[in-house]
Amino acid sequence: MYSAGHVKWALALICIALMLSGSVRAAELIEGKDVARKSLCLGCHAEKQKVVGPAFAEIARRYDNTPQSYTYLINRIKNGGVGAWGAVPMPANKNNITEDEIRKVIDWIFTMKTGER
Ligand code: HEC
Repeated sequence: MYSAGHVKWALALICIALMLSGSVRAAELIEGKDVARKSLCLGCHAEKQKVVGPAFAEIARRYDNTPQSYTYLINRIKNGGVGAWGAVPMPANKNNITEDEIRKVIDWIFTMKTGER
């Protein structure tokens, strides 16, 4: 019934499945960056230096990686705000990005915490 060709395909699929499960974390981080690019965050933010908004690495340093920080930052990213970093406001972003996507970006930001890279 099963030819050598079938077996090869089955093995190839198993290998791909294993590779994917091993790199879920890495994939999430790439996703976070892609979301940030697609949602135009990178027009005002860079990883390491201040642009219009603070560097993501600075944001990672200021907040602990806790559910409370996620709640606070999700709200700030959705609705925008001013005064946490200076006089320049961040506009609301909720038309460009979903809450799930915001979580991915915050996951990515927290990978920049010093010592965790
Ligand atoms: C038009 C420029 C601009 C865009 C676009 C922008 N930001 Fe910001 N962002 C800012 C500025 C300016 C601040 C600092 C606001 C302040 O001082 O409270 C900021 C602050 C932040 C903070 C820290 C908030 C705090 O309270 O500490 C996060 C996190 C953040 N931005 C993420 C994002 C993400 C994610 C996106 C994309 C969906 C985005 N930003 C898009 C300008 C921008």
